[in-house]
Amino acid sequence: MADTEVAPPEVHHYQSIEEVPWDIQNYWAQRHRIFSRYDDGIWLTDDAWFGVTPEPVAHKIANHMAEATPEDRCILVDCFAGAGGNTIAFAQTRKWKRIYAIEKNPAVLQCAQHNAEIYGVGNQITWFQGDCFDILQNQLKDLAPYSVIFASPPWGGPGYRSDHVFNLSTMEPYSLKRLYKEYSMFTPLVALFLPRTSDARQMAKFVPEGDKAEVVHYCMDGHSKALCIYYGGFASHN
Ligand SMILES: C[S@@+](CC[C@H](N)C(=O)[O-])C[C@H]1O[C@@H](n2cnc3c(N)ncnc32)[C@H](O)[C@@H]1O
Repeated sequence: MADTEVAPPEVHHYQSIEEVPWDIQNYWAQRHRIFSRYDDGIWLTDDAWFGVTPEPVAHKIANHMAEATPEDRCILVDCFAGAGGNTIAFAQTRKWKRIYAIEKNPAVLQCAQHNAEIYGVGNQITWFQGDCFDILQNQLKDLAPYSVIFASPPWGGPGYRSDHVFNLSTMEPYSLKRLYKEYSMFTPLVALFLPRTSDARQMAKFVPEGDKAEVVHYCMDGHSKALCIYYGGFASHN
């Protein structure tokens, strides 16, 4: 990381709780679990705190993706890179010939790029600023036969935290149907990171007849944080 690198105005590295907006203070208290190298100068926008995948969970997912992906797939596309939580963990496995990481918000993308440098993995990643659906179709389509997709979409929409069962058809801004349809045109190997209470019947709708998809819950402190559904030809956990 160059000392001269300048953060955009909406990007911060908070160093004391007095600086932290009240709605982020719980997350800030967990900062070293979210990024173990937080103190080395991790950058986040205030919104990115809510969506970043904590490092232990990101590692579990990355290890599974590395082990469960067929040999002929050597490219990983991370469709919603955010501040880089998952992207960095994927790079740390050293499994992928190349990682393509897409993020729509330019300031958040700058955080991901900066954070990947802190972890020393930036050289494995090609970054795109823009819309993942557009970039898959127009810039990455030649790589489709060699690729797998990982996506941790925003979970906005009605009742994300309060619903007993999370409705994946009203997930905003992208429903499960939209995500699956767009991604499965690119590759059958699609891993989606979704709320822990996601409706199992809705997830099952996209599994081809007679086929299976693995759902894995990722837990911290005895609670499921979220789940990942692995569609397509990923190997199951042993
Ligand atoms: C839940 S966060 C991803 C967090 C990330 N996995 C991490 O660990 O830091 C979702 C991100 O998707 C971005 N986003 C939303 N729509 C997008 C799109 N169409 N294409 C690319 N990125 C998008 C948002 O700006 C947000 O940063």
